Amino acid sequence: MKNMTNGEDVKGVILAGGLGSRLYPLTKITNKHLLPVYHKPMVYFPVELLADAGIKDLMIVCGGNHAGEFMRLLCNGKDFGLNYLTYCYQESEGGIAHALSLTREFVDGDKVVVVLGDNILEKGLHSYLTRFLAQEKGARILLKEVQNPSDYGVVGFDKNKITKIVEKPGVPPSKYAVTGIYFYDSLVFDFIESLKPSERGELEITDVNNAYLQRGLLEYDILDGWWADAGSSIENYYRTICKVREKHLRDNPAD
Ligand code: DAU
Repeated sequence: MKNMTNGEDVKGVILAGGLGSRLYPLTKITNKHLLPVYHKPMVYFPVELLADAGIKDLMIVCGGNHAGEFMRLLCNGKDFGLNYLTYCYQESEGGIAHALSLTREFVDGDKVVVVLGDNILEKGLHSYLTRFLAQEKGARILLKEVQNPSDYGVVGFDKNKITKIVEKPGVPPSKYAVTGIYFYDSLVFDFIESLKPSERGELEITDVNNAYLQRGLLEYDILDGWWADAGSSIENYYRTICKVREKHLRDNPAD
C-alpha cells in the first residue's frame, strides 16, 4: 500500500455533467459550470479548490451541451498547477453516482476527492484531506448547517453519530446538509455497481454514502466557513455571486 501523506497521492474528480435546467435560460447557450460567478467561471472554483489541496491529477466529467468548451477554458490544467487534467463525457443525466462511475479507470485504485462542479467553498480542504488520509479506509463527508435542508441530502444523528442520510427529505431529520465534497477509497466503485436508480431515475450519491455508513466506514467533519450550491436555483446562483464578491473584496482590498 502507498504511504499517503498529501494531496499528490490522491486523485481529484469534478462532476460537471447534467443540463443545468434549473438555471434555464442562462444555460440555453452555455453549460452551467461555465457561467460567471463574479470574476471567474463557476468550474474554476472546484478546480482551484482541489489544486490548492495539493491534488495534481484531475478528471472532469462533463455533459450536456457545450461540453467541448471545458477544454477550451481549462486546457491542460497547467495554469492551475496540475500535472494532468483529463476529460470524460457523460452521455445521459444518470445521476451523480453514475457520473463518478465513469472515472473508475482514471482513479485506478487510489483514494479520490470528488467535488460537484457547482459547489463553492469559502475555505480550503487541507484539514479534511489530512484527516481522510489518516483513515485506513472508508469515506468522509463534509456537513453544513443550513436553513433549507429539504433541498439537499440530510443526515440524521444519534448523539454525534450519523444514523442515516436522506436525499431531499420532506421532513428533514436535522439541519445538517451533506455538501458536494466527498472523500472516498476505491470501494466506492463497487458500491456504485450495486446501486439501483432512485425514483427520479438517477444513481444517487446519497445511496453511496449510505452504503459506507451501513458498513461503519463513513466519517464526517462539519465544514468551516460558508458553502454555496450555485446551481440549485437562480436565487442560490445570485447569492453565491454575492458571497464570492464579498470574499474577493475582503481578500483583495485594493480592487
Ligand atoms: O450540493 C450538494 C447536494 O448535491 C447534496 O446535498 C445532495 O445530496 C446531492 O444529491 C446533490 O444534489 P443536487 O440536486 O444539488 O444535485 P445536482 O443535480 O444539482 O447535481 C450537482 C452536480 O453534479 C452538477 O453541478 C453536475 C453534477 N452531475 C449531476 C447529475 C445529475 C453530473 O455530473 N451528472 C449528473 O447526472
